[in-house]
Amino acid sequence: MKKDINYFEKPGKENTDELMNIVKEKLLNSDIKYVAIASVSGETAFKLANVLKEANIEDKITIVNATHHSGFREKNQLEITSKMRKKLEDRGIITFSGSHAFSGVGRGISNKFGGVTPVELIAETFRMFSQGIKVCAEISIMLADAGLIPIGEQILAIGGRANGSDSAVILTPANMTNVFDMRIHEILAMPRD
Ligand SMILES: Cc1cc2nc3c(=O)[nH]c(=O)nc-3n(C[C@H](O)[C@H](O)[C@H](O)COP(=O)(O)O)c2cc1C
Repeated sequence: MKKDINYFEKPGKENTDELMNIVKEKLLNSDIKYVAIASVSGETAFKLANVLKEANIEDKITIVNATHHSGFREKNQLEITSKMRKKLEDRGIITFSGSHAFSGVGRGISNKFGGVTPVELIAETFRMFSQGIKVCAEISIMLADAGLIPIGEQILAIGGRANGSDSAVILTPANMTNVFDMRIHEILAMPRD
């Protein structure tokens, strides 16, 4: 079997538009029904909805958005506005905000006592591919645990470095309790640097 991987020269949000096109093409040519996207502000999730609408496939795909947890940047603050959350809801996109699967309470322990927890090692291992690929894997666990995407079925996941998107994979999600059941089937795009 031969498949194409799109490599971006550098990581980052400049790759978002191209990434959206790659995702659109994949969705047009597969029977994938769910897309998990990390969009802290909601902007990139909204962009994806527009791209799928233009391609006439918005109705056959469920987009689910993951944000940072509350307090990631500022105490008691989510980085997505309620206006954006509603805007996404009106397009059928649910936004989930919760504990990050690849840091979680472990981050609180390493912040206070130093060292590294096993889940943080999983995160760093995925980062050997790209920040975005780490995010794809992480949000798939978070969204599966929230009951928003299915386990045991291939989905498309999208992540990026800090803002926008530069990485996309096809994976079968697993719950956190069976994390090593997760399967990454295809890398659609990632930064090469
Ligand atoms: C749960 C979660 C974890 C994330 N972890 C990282 C990370 O480890 N490294 C990174 O560069 N970006 C990380 N991001 C950022 C995303 O990959 C993505 O670039 C961002 O959510 C896009 O948001 P925007 O639509 O507001 O631009 C994370 C986002 C979420 C929601």
